[in-house]
Amino acid sequence: MTRRPRSPLFRIAKDVVLGERVTLNPFVNLYGCRIGDDCMIGTFVEIQRDVTVGARCRIQSHSFICSGVTLRDDVFVSHGVIFMNDRQPSAAGARDGTWKLERTEVMAAASIGSGALIMGGVTIGAGAMVGAGAVVLEDVPPGAVVAGVPARLFSR
Ligand SMILES: CC(C)(COP(=O)(O)OP(=O)(O)OC[C@H]1O[C@@H](n2cnc3c(N)ncnc32)[C@H](O)[C@@H]1OP(=O)(O)O)[C@@H](O)C(=O)NCCC(=O)NCCS
Repeated sequence: MTRRPRSPLFRIAKDVVLGERVTLNPFVNLYGCRIGDDCMIGTFVEIQRDVTVGARCRIQSHSFICSGVTLRDDVFVSHGVIFMNDRQPSAAGARDGTWKLERTEVMAAASIGSGALIMGGVTIGAGAMVGAGAVVLEDVPPGAVVAGVPARLFSR
C-alpha cells in the first residue's frame, strides 16, 4: 500500500483505495475512488467518488475526473482534462438528486490531450488518441485519433 502523505497539502479521504507505488503530488483532492498500482496523480487533480483508475495511469496536473469515470490500465490524461457526467446539468436536479449519472470508460493505453473535454456516457477505445482541446461527444473507436470541436476522426 502506498504511504499516505500526512501533510495538509494533500486531501486524500480515508475511503480512497490506493494501490502500490502511487505517486501523489501536492494539492490533489481525492475521495471515494480507487487508484491502481504505479499511477502518477499530478498537482491540482480532483478525483471524485465512484472513479476507478487502472494500473500505470498518468493523470497530469489540473485534470478533473468526475464520478462514474473508469480509466483502464496505462491511460494517459494530459493537463487540464475535464470529464463530465451529466449532459443536462441543473441546480434543481443536483439538489433533489434526480440528475442522471452518465458513465464514461477510457480503455487501456488510450491518451487524452491537454484541455480536452469528455462528455459523459462515452467510451474511448483502447489505444485511441484524443487531440488537445477536443470536445468528445461520441464514442472513439479503438486506435483512432480524434480532434476538434466536436471531436471527429482525424486524418492528415
Ligand atoms: C491530434 C494530434 C495527435 C495530431 O498530431 P499530428 O498527427 O502530428 O498532427 P499535425 O501536427 O501534423 O497536424 C495536422 C493537422 O491537424 C491540425 N491539428 C493538430 N492537432 C490538432 C488539434 N488538437 N485540434 C485540432 N486540429 C489539430 C493541424 O493544425 C494540422 O492542420 P492542417 O493540416 O490544416 O495544417 C496532436 O496534434 C495532439 O493534439 N496531441 C495531443 C498533445 C497533448 O495534449 N500533449 C499533452 C502532453 S503534456
